[in-house]
Amino acid sequence: MTVRICLVGAGRAAMVHARSIKEWLPGASAVAVVDPVPEARQKMSDYLGGAPAFESLEQALEAVAFDAVVITTPTFTHRDLAVTAAKAGKHVFCEKPMALTVGECDEMTAAAETPGVNLQVGFMRHFQPEFVAAKERILAGEIGDPMVVKSLTRGPGLPPPWSRVLERSNGMLAEVNSHDFDAVRWLMGSDIARVYAEAVNFKQISHGITEKDFYDVAVVSLRFQSDGVGTIDGACPAEYGYDSRVEILGSKGLIVIGEMQGQPLVVANSREVGLVSPIFKTWPERFKWGYIAEMLHFVESIVNGTTPSVGGLDGRKAVEAVVAANRSWQEERPIRIPQDGA
Ligand SMILES: NC(=O)c1ccc[n+]([C@@H]2O[C@H](COP(=O)([O-])OP(=O)(O)OC[C@H]3O[C@@H](n4cnc5c(N)ncnc54)[C@H](O)[C@@H]3O)[C@@H](O)[C@H]2O)c1
Repeated sequence: MTVRICLVGAGRAAMVHARSIKEWLPGASAVAVVDPVPEARQKMSDYLGGAPAFESLEQALEAVAFDAVVITTPTFTHRDLAVTAAKAGKHVFCEKPMALTVGECDEMTAAAETPGVNLQVGFMRHFQPEFVAAKERILAGEIGDPMVVKSLTRGPGLPPPWSRVLERSNGMLAEVNSHDFDAVRWLMGSDIARVYAEAVNFKQISHGITEKDFYDVAVVSLRFQSDGVGTIDGACPAEYGYDSRVEILGSKGLIVIGEMQGQPLVVANSREVGLVSPIFKTWPERFKWGYIAEMLHFVESIVNGTTPSVGGLDGRKAVEAVVAANRSWQEERPIRIPQDGA
């Protein structure tokens, strides 16, 4: 069986998944593309060897037979697209952040309860080899009970214009740090119970960004239901490269995930300069194997009739924590999860 996929959205993330499907997944084929921007859908169609391209998901549903959608559109469109696809009986892979609100996540999960419909959320760290190994070692008890987690993600590029508007994206904590909120919960084996966030803005003027409430640096303190504690920090743009590292301190030991060095290469040609070594330049480079493996998992779950290991609940928990963290820096106080009166 070849799993036929319709790419919904043809921007940056779509290209990463299109490449995985085309170059790494013989059991899948991208058979259609949807994007309201003609140049974007044409470029993707060309990359896919002339796959039919449409302005809307509804048009694609009418014109082409496919099994699944890969949604890589701006966050504020995820709910409607996922619900439409799921109600049409299509499996849904939806990029993170799952949606803007917990309510939207619940609507998506309810729609995906249609029999024979899978919902997977794009948290590729669950499939990235060093993260998988860390989780296995924690589960094996190698560091004892997880007590403290420190997770950071910093990205070099300016986020797309739509994601600079807080109401349409939930800002950097969603766009960049959704992965951290998800990964700390997964690695600690516990839900986040309270957050306190500080968000600040260092580069808005120098980068010509005019959107109100834009922030480019944030630090979030975390308290888990397990009584573990932690921090998440984010910065975007961080001109020096793409940086994602996690440290988990347990009652018996420590695990450190990730490094800054993008390749095992060191150049030494000047004792004044010292050692020179490549850094990860981009997120597709840093998480290359995670992106391929998550798409393989999505396809295999469809073929085997199994439930994806990263689904609506994981997406919802990350959105819940992001929304609470935004509320925290806006109201200058810690916020409990689930939120009182939210
Ligand atoms: N997993 C990751 O590491 C990762 C990395 C980057 C982006 N993302 C996520 O992917 C999503 C898209 O981000 P991006 O950086 O690719 O954005 P982007 O702006 O590069 O691309 C989004 C594309 O979606 C199209 N679009 C808008 N509305 C649409 C609709 N209703 N139907 C079809 N297409 C539509 C736009 O025209 C655009 O081409 C976001 O949710 C983002 O958080 C995830």
